[in-house]
Amino acid sequence: MLIVVTATPLHRALADPGTPPLRPLPAEAAELLLALHAPARLAAHLRAVHDVAAQLLEWLGQRHPDLPVDHRAVLFGAATHDIGKTRHPEELSGPGSRHEPAGEEILLGYGVHPDLARFAATHASWDSPDVTIEELLVSLADKVWKGRRETDLENRVVDRLAVVGDQQRWAAFLELDDVLSRIAEQADARLDFQARYPTD
Ligand SMILES: [Fe+2]
Repeated sequence: MLIVVTATPLHRALADPGTPPLRPLPAEAAELLLALHAPARLAAHLRAVHDVAAQLLEWLGQRHPDLPVDHRAVLFGAATHDIGKTRHPEELSGPGSRHEPAGEEILLGYGVHPDLARFAATHASWDSPDVTIEELLVSLADKVWKGRRETDLENRVVDRLAVVGDQQRWAAFLELDDVLSRIAEQADARLDFQARYPTD
């Protein structure tokens, strides 16, 4: 007897290499999405944002190696930031912020360390005086993946880069602008990738 096993849209969204290729999510993030039966659209979105976060970290590692950044936290944060949309799926295709506290609650409920769960609650706001570089990078990835530029957010990142690089702000801004423009060039491909997966 031939048994045909069909991958679900969620499995496909997690495994699809993408064009251009998108990095796979960290295993612990993918396992959480499977356990939550997350909508495939959400997994595809998280793939896109996680890949952009990884690109930002690569650039930082080359250009600002002295900036202390917890790479694992940024990658996990990018890979799970919208996980609260499993509880509020209407916010996958419409506005709303109920997914933010819900996401942190879900992650804490699965035993995720608070330092890694916090991105789910903080990814949409970056005006706190004690916002961390890791939180800024997750927020930045969640904008530039689709080519969106946020001056206030970018200025906060520039402040950190200028201090650690002993650079003029304008020079740090030009460098950041350059890498963000390069990442934004692939925005349409990432939007197409995400749109291929259903929201339910
Ligand atoms: Fe997002």
